[in-house]
Amino acid sequence: MQQMYRDTWAEVNLDAIGHNVRQMIQQLPEKTKMIAVVKADGYGHGAVEVAETAIASGASALAVAILEEALELRNAGITVPILVFGWVAPVDTPIAAEHDLTLTFFQKDWIRQVKSYTFPRPLKVQMAWDTGMGRVGVRTESELHTLTEELMDAANMRLTGVYTHFATADEQDLTYFYKQKSRFQTLWQAFSELWNKPVAVHTGNSAASMRFPDEMCHFIRFGIAMYGLYPSNIMKQENVIHLQQAFSLNSRLIHVKEIEAGESISYGVTYTSEAKEWIGTIPIGYADGWLRKLQGFKVLVDGKYMPIVGKICMDQTMIRLDQAYPVGTIVTLIGKQNGEEIGMNDVAGYLDTINYEIPCNISKRVPRIYTGSDNPFSN
Ligand SMILES: Cc1ncc(COP(=O)(O)O)c(C=O)c1O
Repeated sequence: MQQMYRDTWAEVNLDAIGHNVRQMIQQLPEKTKMIAVVKADGYGHGAVEVAETAIASGASALAVAILEEALELRNAGITVPILVFGWVAPVDTPIAAEHDLTLTFFQKDWIRQVKSYTFPRPLKVQMAWDTGMGRVGVRTESELHTLTEELMDAANMRLTGVYTHFATADEQDLTYFYKQKSRFQTLWQAFSELWNKPVAVHTGNSAASMRFPDEMCHFIRFGIAMYGLYPSNIMKQENVIHLQQAFSLNSRLIHVKEIEAGESISYGVTYTSEAKEWIGTIPIGYADGWLRKLQGFKVLVDGKYMPIVGKICMDQTMIRLDQAYPVGTIVTLIGKQNGEEIGMNDVAGYLDTINYEIPCNISKRVPRIYTGSDNPFSN
């Protein structure tokens, strides 16, 4: 375990990750396998640890956003297929081939340039289809024809899959989702008239997989729900799969003092006490991803909610306590304490954002401690 000299840490419960993966796999037909999405350092949970746990729990492959993330997994000794979602420069394709990584493409020029390289084995590639996300991917049938034809004589590449990404699969109104599905069908029709070798097909993120597990073709791409977070509030209410949140964030009181009425706290003196008050200081701040906008939000001490008072500093945050507590008392910023809970969704709601953003934002300065008996690193 990493040496900690400061009492602020995130706990990642790998049993929860394993539980969420198994819950999802149970819903899928036999033919549909799972790609565990561990981009952005496993949504801030730790890519290698999450990947190992997901694989041990039944995931067949992994996906990341950038080449560096894929290399980190290979360097950790992970051998399952790894798909890179993002654009990788043609000049960097030899390193991908060398590490048996699968790259995403969606441009004719990209194929043309990559054709000129010699790889020790064919580079695995997958074609992204933009059916309405508007981010990357082939949009029209004529573009699809051009790309597919360009790929046909590329002996140094092997097309292993085609995929699309939904923009609204987590919403109540699924009209746009069905429009994307129908665009995908049209593209698939055009593609299958040209291409007669088998390819894997995958369309579903967590939301689509949880809602339509029987329609997910060869793979699902399971991201946010693997971490125990629902893709949206409406899906949390639907609760088709019972997820367990894996991530919690903790600190300890490093200073406790009583202040008089009329005394102020932190930069800009935005908080002034109305009576005598106990104030605690915790060693976490916006440099840890505990953002300044969280002023006024709450934390848990002794199983009770205590407000954050004054501006959050770069490295420290002040809270109002209901009584004196000893230095060293645990403060939970995200997670459970004595039956009370501050969920990832509570933090996201306060910040007017989505739960995805919260663990991604907790910076590298906060060590991740892995717990749970599913933990492949516990021995
Ligand atoms: C292409 C692609 N597939 C799958 C996912 C996983 O989505 P989710 O985390 O909603 O399951 C993402 C994440 O944004 C993605 O970009």
